[in-house]
Amino acid sequence: MGKDVIIALDFPGAEETLRFLDQFQGGRKPFVKIGMELYYSAGPEIVRRIRERGHRIFLDLKLHDIPNTVKKAAAVIRDIGADIINVHAAGGSAMMKAAVEGATRADGSRPIVIAVTQLTSTDQETLEKELLIGRPIDEVVIAYAENARRAGLDGIVCSPREAAKVHEACGAGFLTVTPGIRFPEGERGDQKRVTSPAEAAKAGSDYIVVGRPITAAADPTAAYERCIREFLGEEA
Ligand code: C5P
Repeated sequence: MGKDVIIALDFPGAEETLRFLDQFQGGRKPFVKIGMELYYSAGPEIVRRIRERGHRIFLDLKLHDIPNTVKKAAAVIRDIGADIINVHAAGGSAMMKAAVEGATRADGSRPIVIAVTQLTSTDQETLEKELLIGRPIDEVVIAYAENARRAGLDGIVCSPREAAKVHEACGAGFLTVTPGIRFPEGERGDQKRVTSPAEAAKAGSDYIVVGRPITAAADPTAAYERCIREFLGEEA
C-alpha cells in the first residue's frame, strides 16, 4: 500500500457517517479512519457497510490488554475487514507480537498493524509525575517505535514532525501514520502542533490522518482533493 490521505470519520453515528460518505460516491474512494466513538455507537456493521462501498479502513481501536486477549481481538477486527489496526506500544512487546499473530490469516496475509507510542495528550510532566517515566518524551516515542518494529509491527502513529526521526531509527519502510494536519489558513481546533499536507509530505509521512479540515469544510470533497494534491502531488 502506498502513501495516502485517511479521513477521520469522527461522527457520532452511522447515519451522519454514511451521509458524509455519500458525497464521495463518484470519484476516488477515500481511505477512512473509524475510531472509538463511531465504532462503539455503530459497531462492526458500520465497518462492513463502509467497506462494501469500496473504502479502505483504518480501525483505530488502540488495543491494550494481556497478550491472549489482544491476539483474539486482533483476529476479530481482521475479520470485520480492517486494512489497518492498532495497539498501544505501552502494552509491551509480547502484547504487540500477539496482535500481529492474531491479525495473521491462515495464508499469511494480514492487515497493517501499527502502534500508538505516547498519546499526544501526554506531556513531559504527566510522563514523569503520573506514569513515572523519567526520560524525555521524544526518547520514549523512539524507544517505543523501536519496540514496535522489533515486535514485527509495520509502523506507528506519530506527528509528521517525528516522522524523519522514526524513519531514521526504524528504517524508511516503517510506516508513519500522522494526524495533526491543518491547511495553513485553517482553524487549529484543539490540535497544538499542526502540519500542512505539503509539509507532512516533505517530512516523509506515509499516511496523513485528516479529520475536521475535511469533515467540517464547506466543501468536503474539495478539501479532500486538495489534501490529495498537496500530500500526494496528484489529482484525486
Ligand atoms: O479533526 P482532526 O484532524 O484533528 O482529527 C485527527 C484525528 O486523529 C482524530 O480522529 C484524532 O483522534 C486522531 N489522533 C490525533 N492525535 C493522535 C492520535 C490520533 O489527532 N496523537
